[in-house]
Amino acid sequence: MRMTGRLGEPLLATLPWSTPLEEWPEDLVVALPRGISRHIVRFVRIEGVVYAIKEIEESFATREYSLLFDLERRDVPCVEPVGVVLDRTDESGEPLPGALITRQLEFSLPYRALFSTSLRKETAERLIDALALLLVQLHLVGFSWNDCSLSNTLFRRDAGVFAAYLVDAETGELHPHLSDGQREYDLETAATNVAGELMDLQAGGRLQEGIDPIVTGVSLRNRYDALWQEITQPLVVSREDRYRMESRMRRLNDLGFDVAELQVDTQPDGEHITVAAKVVDVGHHTRRLMQLTGLDVEENQARRLLNDLDSYRMKLGLETDDEQIAAHRWVTDRFECVMAEVGPELRGKLEPAEIFHEVLEHRWFMSERAGASVPFGDAVSDYVETVLRAKPDEKSVLGAREGSASDDTATLRIVLPPESSQQGEP
Ligand SMILES: Nc1ncnc2c1ncn2[C@@H]1O[C@H](COP(=O)(O)OP(=O)(O)OP(=O)(O)O)[C@@H](O)[C@H]1O
Ligand SMILES: [Mg+2]
Repeated sequence: MRMTGRLGEPLLATLPWSTPLEEWPEDLVVALPRGISRHIVRFVRIEGVVYAIKEIEESFATREYSLLFDLERRDVPCVEPVGVVLDRTDESGEPLPGALITRQLEFSLPYRALFSTSLRKETAERLIDALALLLVQLHLVGFSWNDCSLSNTLFRRDAGVFAAYLVDAETGELHPHLSDGQREYDLETAATNVAGELMDLQAGGRLQEGIDPIVTGVSLRNRYDALWQEITQPLVVSREDRYRMESRMRRLNDLGFDVAELQVDTQPDGEHITVAAKVVDVGHHTRRLMQLTGLDVEENQARRLLNDLDSYRMKLGLETDDEQIAAHRWVTDRFECVMAEVGPELRGKLEPAEIFHEVLEHRWFMSERAGASVPFGDAVSDYVETVLRAKPDEKSVLGAREGSASDDTATLRIVLPPESSQQGEP
């Protein structure tokens, strides 16, 4: 027997690999809900961690492992690959199939375990929403699933909606980019599979009356198309209504996407802005903002600030490569400028990053009301006078942060980027 992968747990090697998975002792196996599958899947718990083991031909195990590994690296929601077991033999030396080990996705459920008696319309719709989003995320990184279905997905409850994770990557392929034809094929399969799964439920009396399996399959496509459009279609904006670009960024953020890149083409009818979106991992924005500006703030604040930095970079006419330069100017021209306008007497009201975030919010509301972009400076003055002044003083409630109460830049930790070798610092 041979094991490869990220085997952080040595006890995995002590599992009874010379026994077919189906015959593993009851006391070893953890009974958790599993989806419908051709292969045998069992869960085991080692040192408090639950692993899913799928018995599968060696070449498929290896392939699926590496696909999951690549998907995980691209921050797509999927089960975490742990390792592959090869060269298994039973007690009499006869060969056994290989095995794929993944980490059991905590709090996740196969779709059939999400409802007790029958699948209701609202639940079905939310499942479809989650699946459509997952497909978009996969297609953005160039992954064609080729067997997208409810059974090959795991669902987690997420503040009233579902988050979908890919569990079965066996049939998938990773390409640098997917053509429209490849996406089309994947969608076709997905719609057919989902319709089939719902028909099965229907045949077993487990689908609420009034849900049409075929129509639901088609609705997956529609939902997908709308999302894909939102994420990839260029947006034409004039200089006056640049705030519409922010609307799109916000919608993307709400969907769990980050704006990876903005590209602007100036045309006679306005600016054509193309947004490249990608899925992001937790803490990504905080780290990125810290790297660029030295500001150490919370994740959501960082996301907002980075969006503003990006808009500011475009306003300066700088390319993505010049992000570092743009970040420098943004800190002085924008961030510190706002703090100066706030002035020392109001600075105890809120943390600097939160003030800045609120200014952005304020400007957003003002622009929405006016139906046009409100100049940044106007929004700052209005915010300071109408909002900030009326707030209670948080610093006195929470106590001063390390540094001192008079330190204006308590949350500003400037890390100078290594711009040139003349600076002497490594
Ligand atoms: N890491 C995991 N966490 C939680 N559940 C898992 C995990 N891996 C597998 N499962 C469960 O096992 C089921 C079967 O897994 P999977 O779809 O990979 O098997 P399969 O035999 O390749 O399926 P198919 O019949 O589609 O080829 C899943 O639906 C899921 O319920
Ligand atoms: Mg499967």
